[in-house]
Amino acid sequence: MRTHYCGEPTEAMIGQTVTLCGWAARRRDHGGVIFVDLRDRDGIIQVVFDPDQQDAFKLAETVRSEFVLRVQGKVRARPAGTENPHLKTGKVEVLAATVEILNRADALPFQLDEEGLSEPVRLKYRYLDLRRDMMQRNLRLRHEIAKTMRRFLEDKGFVEIETPMLTKSTPEGARDYLVPSRTHAGHFFALPQSPQLFKQLLMVSGFERYFQITRCFRDEDLRADRQPEFTQLDIETSFLEEDGVMGLMEEMIRALFKGVLQVDLPASFTRMTYDEAVRRFGTDRPDLRVSLELIDVADLMKSVDFKVFAGPANAPNGRVAALRVPKGGDLTRSQIDAYTAFVGQYGAKGLAYIKVNDVTKGREGLQSPILKFLPDAAIAEILKRTAAANNDLIFFGADNARVVNDALGALRLKLGADLGLTENAWKVLWVVDFPMFDYDADAKRWVALHHPFTSPKHEDLDRVDIDPANVRARAYDMVLNGSEIGGGSIRIHRMDVQEKVFAALGIEAEEARAKFGFLLDALRLGAPPHGGIAFGLDRICALMTGSESIRDVIAFPKTQKASCLMTDAPSVVDDAQLRELHIKLRKPLTEPSGAPVE
Ligand code: AMO
Ligand code: AMP
Repeated sequence: MRTHYCGEPTEAMIGQTVTLCGWAARRRDHGGVIFVDLRDRDGIIQVVFDPDQQDAFKLAETVRSEFVLRVQGKVRARPAGTENPHLKTGKVEVLAATVEILNRADALPFQLDEEGLSEPVRLKYRYLDLRRDMMQRNLRLRHEIAKTMRRFLEDKGFVEIETPMLTKSTPEGARDYLVPSRTHAGHFFALPQSPQLFKQLLMVSGFERYFQITRCFRDEDLRADRQPEFTQLDIETSFLEEDGVMGLMEEMIRALFKGVLQVDLPASFTRMTYDEAVRRFGTDRPDLRVSLELIDVADLMKSVDFKVFAGPANAPNGRVAALRVPKGGDLTRSQIDAYTAFVGQYGAKGLAYIKVNDVTKGREGLQSPILKFLPDAAIAEILKRTAAANNDLIFFGADNARVVNDALGALRLKLGADLGLTENAWKVLWVVDFPMFDYDADAKRWVALHHPFTSPKHEDLDRVDIDPANVRARAYDMVLNGSEIGGGSIRIHRMDVQEKVFAALGIEAEEARAKFGFLLDALRLGAPPHGGIAFGLDRICALMTGSESIRDVIAFPKTQKASCLMTDAPSVVDDAQLRELHIKLRKPLTEPSGAPVE
């Protein structure tokens, strides 16, 4: 239907006749001449309709935004002074000889170049939203990213293998999406939370290097960086240990950034233990672009006359930490109040602070409602540890460690953004030596911090049953600018160890057999040592495109309430369909649309 794409004509083609297809991005009438900016996947070009070409001109008068056109005409130079330096085709235009309207478009629900569109509108008309420049760029970059990683892995001998979508629960810490079976009444498939067990079984099968770009499904609370279905670049290897897997993955991420963004990441990525990350940054996914750090001061507060500090300082699970804000002395009272409200969202009951006016004057040079509670020695030591300078502000958090870490960890990032303390850089690191288990206080039992197939460290194996709190895992997460972009581990490849870990998780032998019997059998039939990782492709794409949300790099994402506004999924189904699936609703539907459950 066409001879060229809209982005192709240049001065070199002046005089040539071309046929173009695309959408009318804009139409302007200019004293008898009509201009249409014609857009296709490749670019935009200005098409001119002159009244001399009567038929074409008449049709052009009826053209509206987003009509689909086929235009034939001659490339000519734009008159001097009317060139558009922002367009690749900005020096030329096409004088239309004929035009065909391939399809009309009703008035659009929004203009494609409208700023600040609301997300519900964008998602309802996602196919239109995807016509916009930003979305076109994002999805093409996503394609480049997937292609670059796939190439890298292929060159390293990895084989791409698909694993089932209708399967059994693969525990990764979220709820399953279930699919009822018609042929087995009362039985359900689960959609995979990850291909974890299948990729391990592929190692037992002897593939040694597997990868897959695959969808995973997790019914969990959604955030800007989480979707109920998302894509992993999933990888597994045999006969490699931590250094082997991590080295290979660093090489891949370096190749990705070099190939797609022409960015050089460091020749070797920093490794930080989980303990250090939490101590210094309050989180296991520290954003190293912000230099502010949490500094422990509990030891100075054990006997102060201020319960807010002394309490947590003496509690086994407590933490008292300081956060120095360079030039924070300029913060106003109301700004400090706003930060206090901000940390309140993370459970902090307050946000004590000391303003440093003159660090040489000790107590006299400081300003704070809590100074009266602190002895001179403690004050001196706080100033020393935080390396405070004049006009700094020191914030304090005191509570159980989780609240302090969450509150000050988030405050660090907020201050970094608000005060321009976030470096414009790519900061990547590995977080290692994770605890194997985490205590779930509600359920009153230990759960796996990664997943139950992660190998405990050799030296901690003996502790699995007696002291789970102090067992570390052979797990590693890759963190980029404060986002966990990948996580993996060396796996358990011996049945006795796997059984021991199940037992520590409170999974009885019978239950283990019912849920994971196939894995236990496989581990007895020649399972090699193996390990791997999975990257969150959506998160990587969001970071590399500079998107605020992973929804901006997914063609058809779900809302925060896990629904699709375009197709109206999930939706009600016929009684007949339910009957076939042996399902009866517990409560008859009152809302036919299935309003979201809070
Ligand atoms: P994990 O659960 O850490 O590991 O997942 C791997 C990576 O997937 C991304 N991710 C998500 N992205 C978008 N929406 C979500 N809801 C979501 N959940 C996770 C993150 C994360 O780092 N089987 C293991 C991997 C392994 O051990 O090899 C697993 O799934 O970027
Ligand atoms: P109060 O004695 O409650 O007026 O608190 C004195 C100062 O301590 C105020 O600046 C509070 O914001 C702060 N504060 C109260 N509770 C905490 C806490 N758990 N952690 C840090 N600061 C706190």
